[in-house]
Amino acid sequence: EPTLKEAYKNFFPIGVAVAPRNLTGPEADLIIRQFNSITPENSMKMGPIHPEENRYAWTDTDAIVAFAQKNGIKVRGHNLCWHNQTPRWFFTDAAGKQVTKDVLLKRLKDHIDAVAGRYKGKIYAWDVVNEAVPDTGNQLYRKSKFYEIIGEDYIEKAFEYAHAADPVAQLYYNDYNTENKVKRDRIYQLLKKLKAKGVPIHGVGLQGHWSIYEPTAPELEESISRFASLGLKIQITELDVSVYPKEHERREKKPTDKSEYTADMNDRQAAHYKMLFDMFRKHKDVVTNVTFWNVSDKSTWLDNFPVPDRKDYPLLFDQNYQPKKAYYGVVRF
Ligand code: XIL
Repeated sequence: EPTLKEAYKNFFPIGVAVAPRNLTGPEADLIIRQFNSITPENSMKMGPIHPEENRYAWTDTDAIVAFAQKNGIKVRGHNLCWHNQTPRWFFTDAAGKQVTKDVLLKRLKDHIDAVAGRYKGKIYAWDVVNEAVPDTGNQLYRKSKFYEIIGEDYIEKAFEYAHAADPVAQLYYNDYNTENKVKRDRIYQLLKKLKAKGVPIHGVGLQGHWSIYEPTAPELEESISRFASLGLKIQITELDVSVYPKEHERREKKPTDKSEYTADMNDRQAAHYKMLFDMFRKHKDVVTNVTFWNVSDKSTWLDNFPVPDRKDYPLLFDQNYQPKKAYYGVVRF
């Protein structure tokens, strides 16, 4: 059986999101054998890497980047500007008052200069702005602190700062729920505006937090084609296929069902993964990376999201790091 990176060597790099604890023992072996791209799962986000105005915490990211370089693995940077996991100090002054537009832009620039600058030449693609578009309501822009204080131009500024700090890196806008008609349209409008203004943006990241029930092949293909029509590359940046139905959960608001991982789910998941990778290969001219969000079912962020303490089984490797049925459907084509 070929490994993932062998099977896909003529298509795109296969990535994985990691924390420093994944870099030793059986998980490290699995990463080195199977993957040729890495994304730090949390360590490059604003909060973890820039906890106070005059303090950066580089240790975890340095370790991940060094591991990647030592093993010939590319690094995707995630992320430079997001409404989540951003420390309170970013938006407030010493007296606790909300900062002005000028101050926040300066902080954003300093942050991006420092982070993208430190890893310049080592990050081949950056998620510059993450999740700037809302899922519901009539607004094009999510009402984040960045939007409230700076206005819509925080997005293009972030891209300009990133491009100045690392002119070679490919710069991505990254979001989830990208197959939802309404949200897809909004993201398309946003990207179209950025392109029309000549903002240095090279692609769009579809996070790919999907489930065994969604998206359908036509829904996914429509997203790829629409975004690619703007001259953008596509990367699947955070792929996992939950065994729980996501749209249903969004509607119900308080999902409570817990399930055993049944053979039926395992089969559906294999079929779903096969459909996804058939589609990615079909569009290999525009799909330039596919990254899984975590290493194996032993531990995934979905074990605690959106429902705390509900085990999920969304990846290609099981809790003992063994390939699942879905794995074989992905590497045999
Ligand atoms: C998640 C991490 O996996 C978790 O460990 C953390 O507690 C929360 O963030 N969209 C993103 C990622 O862009 O950064 C998120 O990662 C998952 C959703």
